[in-house]
Amino acid sequence: MRILSGIQPSGKLHIGNYFGMMKPALELQEQGEAFLFIADYHALTTVHDASALRQQVRDVALDFLAAGLDPEKTAFYRQSDVPEVQELSWLLSIITPMGLLERCHSYKDKLAKGFAASHGLFAYPVLMSADILIVQSNLVPVGRDQKQHLEVARDLAIKFNNQFEEVFTIPEPSIRDSVAVVPGVDGQKMSKSYDNTLEIFGDPKALKKRVMKIVTDSKELEDPKDPDTCNVFALYKLFASDEELADLAGRYRAGNFGYGTAKKELLAKINEHFAPMREKRAELENNLDYVEEVLSRGAEKARAEAQKTLSAARRAVGLE
Ligand code: TYM
Repeated sequence: MRILSGIQPSGKLHIGNYFGMMKPALELQEQGEAFLFIADYHALTTVHDASALRQQVRDVALDFLAAGLDPEKTAFYRQSDVPEVQELSWLLSIITPMGLLERCHSYKDKLAKGFAASHGLFAYPVLMSADILIVQSNLVPVGRDQKQHLEVARDLAIKFNNQFEEVFTIPEPSIRDSVAVVPGVDGQKMSKSYDNTLEIFGDPKALKKRVMKIVTDSKELEDPKDPDTCNVFALYKLFASDEELADLAGRYRAGNFGYGTAKKELLAKINEHFAPMREKRAELENNLDYVEEVLSRGAEKARAEAQKTLSAARRAVGLE
């Protein structure tokens, strides 16, 4: 089984990325042949500052290796080190209906946020389809916000196979319900672009401030509270055992329990969970040559697969 996922290097890694994609992807690396890449071509649709992009690519590489990516099991690479993906993107583009892309929520969301309507932003899902199809992925672990993009990839693979030749494996998304949409401090989906994230490797003081700012209702201290509608509880769930959850839920319902206490307990959980990864990340920061070496080995492996698929696709359309 081939497993593939990608992440944009467009900001600091947050708890939503970690639980929505990174953790499931790292667990899946035990079950098949895994490919994980840093989507730098995609990031260019919104990041137009060369040194910021370089820095962010380096940061994501460190984040993944610190979080437990095993380069022996997973081909870990920079998207732009596999330029074949651009040519495949073109071959897919010629069969991509405009309407399919016009319906994509993420494009409409980006415009609503004030990004200029560029061709790159519009064609984003086609490039993403090429990422997935070029290594013949079976399974793509993602958060729910990527579901529609996965449907585009499937549609294009089926259409290409029917219209030309059977070249592509049809990929399946892998979305875990419990972490499909991790909420941010304001209760909306946690997202860099909503400025509501809890960063994993950021400044501990800033993290504490953010946790203390998580939006709750305004019940009095003595009132019973509902854990199931509380953002603090929803985040606590990601880290706690069933017993710990039942205990906290009981204290919510009993009353005489403030959200401040729940927030402190959440913060302690976050810090405990990520402490070993923070340590590992600090070590890796002093070993950037190793990080580069991992990325170039990963690119070599991904490129070998990419070249095979691209060559089959070129033959199918008549370029070879
Ligand atoms: P990106 O960089 O926005 O996010 C990386 C992954 O994190 C997941 N995620 C979340 N999951 C749950 N709750 C949240 N609050 C949350 N926020 C982010 C995302 O769903 C994603 O899985 N287009 C992709 C990158 C990409 C890609 C690909 C992914 C490019 N090519 C091919 C898979 C396959 C993106 O922008 O993810």
